[in-house]
Amino acid sequence: MKFNIAVLAGDGIGPEISKSGVAVMSAVCNKFGHSVEYTYAICGADAIDKVGNPFPEETYQICRKADAVLFSAVGDPKYDNNPTAKVRPEQGLLAMRKQLGLYANIRPVQTFECLLHKSPLKTEIVRDADFICIRELTGGMYFGEKYQDDNKAYDTNYYTRHEIERILKVGFEYAMQRKKHLTVIDKANVLASSRLWRQIAQEMEPLYPEVKTDYMYVDNAAMRMIQEPTFFDVMVTENTFGDILTDEGSCISGSMGLLPSASVGEQTPVFEPIHGSWPQAKGLNIANPLAQILSVAMLFEHFDLTEEGKMIRDAVKASLDANIRTQDIQTDNHAPYSTTQVTDWIVDYINNCEL
Ligand code: IPM
Ligand code: MG
Repeated sequence: MKFNIAVLAGDGIGPEISKSGVAVMSAVCNKFGHSVEYTYAICGADAIDKVGNPFPEETYQICRKADAVLFSAVGDPKYDNNPTAKVRPEQGLLAMRKQLGLYANIRPVQTFECLLHKSPLKTEIVRDADFICIRELTGGMYFGEKYQDDNKAYDTNYYTRHEIERILKVGFEYAMQRKKHLTVIDKANVLASSRLWRQIAQEMEPLYPEVKTDYMYVDNAAMRMIQEPTFFDVMVTENTFGDILTDEGSCISGSMGLLPSASVGEQTPVFEPIHGSWPQAKGLNIANPLAQILSVAMLFEHFDLTEEGKMIRDAVKASLDANIRTQDIQTDNHAPYSTTQVTDWIVDYINNCEL
């Protein structure tokens, strides 16, 4: 295949882990005889500083024309404690999702046997946890009507039937490919939007008779996820709930630096780590590149290139087993490796793989 990849490195540790993703992408393409071209584009705080817009039109055009976007992270502390800032780096990410129509965010939560002890949860609870959170990504409170003055503010959790149906379809289809267990997460005891979700999910259930569908309130799901994460196979939920639950999910794996994601929908798919820009670590070469590298595995798998994806997953597993790990996941008696050292080790591993 001939790949044309848009690379959006963004802010904080973004540029460092972006390089890791590109290096691994190139190594795998080289190994399998794919050609790849990268087009770099600005976003986030970096783009605000340069052109005053966190997702400039030029960046959108580069993304639109690409086969896939390799995205890293956006965010800068100078905006975090300034509620009056008119333009924020995160708006760039939201604009990208909206303009590319990326309504489905696929966030797998998996464990690595050698890292089970890194989870704040007990090993016997997290062992074998393996589920996918399908998060709706272009609707709900993130994009509904908003208002803010000095005395009142609101966000509207607006969802249409069309938006709900298409994301539930993704959920049912993922469940069909996995253990055929779908959990629809909502707050139907309180929210009208959730009641419509539940109604539509119940209407769709007969279309997927093999899937065991259950319904869970989000507060209960938050508890269940740390009490018995192995209960879940595929969960599907609205934008805000999915944002919150997937950060919780990262505790199951042991580090935020391990979880990749894919955002798919109408236009170019985006592959990105779920973690943020970790500004405190910027330039220190200590960030864990694995979430970004595993995002590249998801990129290949999206194009049905499963061998390519598997090679990356094998390389990541081998690096963990060999204790070539950044400080967030290193065990006490081993020195931590830097972002570039972990990346170089994984690239070497791929270069040395036999096909
Ligand atoms: C995520 C992030 C974003 C979100 C932020 C950076 C806007 O937390 O991708 O989960 O809330 O969607
Ligand atoms: Mg989040």
